[in-house]
Parts: sequence; structure tokens; C-alpha cells
Amino acid sequence: MKQYNVGILGATGMVGQRFALLLAEHPWFNVKVLAASPRSAGKTYEEAVGSRWAMTVPIPEKLRNMVVRDLNADMDTITAEVDLVFCAVDMKKEEIKALEERYAKAECPVISNNSAHRFTPDVPMVVPEINPEHLEIIAAQRKRLGTKKGFIAVKSNCSIQSYVPALHPLKQFGLQKVLACTYQAISGAGKTFETWPEMVDNLIPFIGGEEEKSEQEPLKVWGSIQNGEIVKAAAPSITTQCLRVPVSDGHTAAVFVSFEKKPTKEEILTLWENFKGEPQELGLPSAPKQFIHYFTEDNRPQAHLDRNLEGGMAVSVGRLREDTQYDYKFVCLSHNTLRGAAGGGVLLAELLAAKGYFD
Ligand SMILES: NC(=O)c1ccc[n+]([C@@H]2O[C@H](COP(=O)([O-])OP(=O)(O)OC[C@H]3O[C@@H](n4cnc5c(N)ncnc54)[C@H](OP(=O)(O)O)[C@@H]3O)[C@@H](O)[C@H]2O)c1
Repeated sequence: MKQYNVGILGATGMVGQRFALLLAEHPWFNVKVLAASPRSAGKTYEEAVGSRWAMTVPIPEKLRNMVVRDLNADMDTITAEVDLVFCAVDMKKEEIKALEERYAKAECPVISNNSAHRFTPDVPMVVPEINPEHLEIIAAQRKRLGTKKGFIAVKSNCSIQSYVPALHPLKQFGLQKVLACTYQAISGAGKTFETWPEMVDNLIPFIGGEEEKSEQEPLKVWGSIQNGEIVKAAAPSITTQCLRVPVSDGHTAAVFVSFEKKPTKEEILTLWENFKGEPQELGLPSAPKQFIHYFTEDNRPQAHLDRNLEGGMAVSVGRLREDTQYDYKFVCLSHNTLRGAAGGGVLLAELLAAKGYFD
């Protein structure tokens, strides 16, 4: 496979650190640029991250002394050196939108973890196992941007990465109503227990904007391309409550679902076990071999035990049973900064690379 030079915008942040770890030894992507705000620019990566390094393994040796660039001021030199950038920055939505469009217009593809462009109609929001066909919208986006190579592709919010994969293979039974309560880790807010001690022995019943994303984003992922736009699916009707819980990594969701035609429990379990997508068929480097792992034990999945399954790229599901008000209920778990953020971004970039979008 061809090698591509890549940059990480927001490399010093929580998701940026995950990108650094995942990309340092990647077989296809070679990290050429680490970039962040003017606060970090000019420092080595190690100095810029300082005590914020939140990973359990040290900074990769090859990145430790790389000098961090200013992602705005140094854009011209960055885009000249790389084939694509991964972007995970904490800025105002309009600033992120403009930043990502500037990189794309400079013919530098942007794989984004940010929410800013998730509802731009010609920007694909892709979970590679679920809606790889949405990449076809990139042709229309390039036309709008006036680019040959540049485009923006985004991954969805971390909260939906546990329950949408579990619901997707069941769509053939007609998903009617979904209720999901999410129990979300503190790394989802870019925090650790050191930087957010108020979260120890605590629960906060509100995460700004999260319930809207959790209800609307699945409908775009399940949407269809019509006249150069991705049109959201009309069903299912989704309602959510999103809570912040004292867990370092790993978002859990308690899900209730009703169908037009109720499947049997065995049918659901078989569909989960056999669910494969293009990443598995193409053998992409970050693809989990088994996307959905079903646990038969009543006390699984657990964030602490199961979030790192298959490099944090698999989804764990358990406790499937009938419900008195909905047809079924079950519990899902996915690693929010791996499958839900940087890992999902890397897998999306691998899919794009395999399909020739960076050439
Ligand atoms: N954490 C998750 O689980 C998760 C999951 C999915 C999506 N996301 C999304 O990913 C993005 C980053 O999240 P995070 O948790 O990694 O945030 P974070 O830890 O706060 O990191 C933010 C990054 O943005 C940079 N930055 C902040 N202000 C900037 C500015 N004015 N100009 C240039 N760079 C600036 C920071 O650079 P300095 O270090 O130089 O300040 C840092 O590299 C957010 O949009 C978030 O919603 C996060």
C-alpha cells in the first residue's frame, strides 16, 4: 500500500494525543506535522503537551521532539508537506468550519473529529462499517469547493458509536422507536480525574448539545444521497438522555428498541455475530476482526474490562432481553476516544486511502 504523509491538527489535545499514538507506527500514514494553537507552536511536542499527556503509554519516541506548528499561521507550509490532515480542535464552531474549509480548499483532505461540519449536506459523516457509500458525495463537495483533491469527511459523535452499530444490522426488521440513555466517560470532555476532580464520586446529568447529536446524527448516517446532498432518514424516532459518569474512558448506552416486525432473540444475536462491513472485507489495518462482540454474562460489558477490545475498535453488547414497553432492551459499550474519536478517524482515512481518495 502507498504511504501518505499526514498532519494532526489539535495534536496536543485528548483526541490529538490518541491520533499521535495510533499514527506513530501506522503502516500507511507517516506523521509529518503536529499542529495546535499559538500557545503550543514552537515548542517540542513533549513540552507543548507537558502534564496534559493523558495516555497510559509514553509519547511515541519519533514524535517527542517534533516541533509543534501553528495550525492557522502555518497552514501554507503544512498543506505543502502532507497528503491529508486529521483534525480534532477545541474552537468555536464557525472557526472550525472555516479552518477545515481552508485546508480542503488548499487541496488538503481533512478527516475531522469535530462536529462543525457534521450537518453540512455534502460532507459525509461515516462509520466505515455502516455507510461507506456516503463517500460518493465527495465528488459533489469537491465541485462546490472548487477542488480536485481537497474535501472534508467527518466521523460521527462518540455517543452514537455504541448503539448505532448494534441497531444497524437490525434495520431489516424496520426500526421504529429507539430510546438510548448514555453514560459517558470524562475523556469525552477532554478531561482526566486529575484535571476534573469534581467528577470523582459524581454524576452530571447534562452534556451540552449531546442529546441533539445523539438523536440526529444516526439519521444522517442512515440517510441517502439525493441530488448532491445527504438527506436524513425519516425513521426511527430516537430519544436520548446523556449523562457524564465517573469513568475515565468508554461510553456505555442502555438501549430500548421497537420494530415494525419483531425479530426473535436468536435472529438478533445471529445478525450481530455475522455483521461485517467494508473495513473487514478490505482488511483495513485498524478494523476489528469481529465488529460486535456479544457477552452472555449478565454483568458485561463493563467499561473497565471491555473498552479496549480489539484495540478499542470493537463494540461490546450484552443483556439482550425483551422489554415490557419496547420490543427489546440491551446495553452497548464503545471506547470513546478510540472507536468514538481518533480510531474511528483513522479507520475512515484507511477506507478513503483504500478507495484512492488521497491520490
Ligand atoms: N474527547 C473525545 O472523546 C471526543 C470524541 C469525539 C469528538 N471530539 C471532538 O474532538 C475535538 C477535540 O476534542 P479534545 O477532547 O481532544 O479537546 P482538547 O483536549 O481540549 O484539545 C483541543 C485541541 O485544540 C487546540 N486548540 C484550542 N484552541 C485553539 C485555537 N484557538 N487555535 C488552534 N488550536 C486550538 C488545542 O491546542 P493547545 O494545546 O495549543 O491549546 C488542542 O490541541 C472537539 O471538537 C471534540 O468535540 C472529542
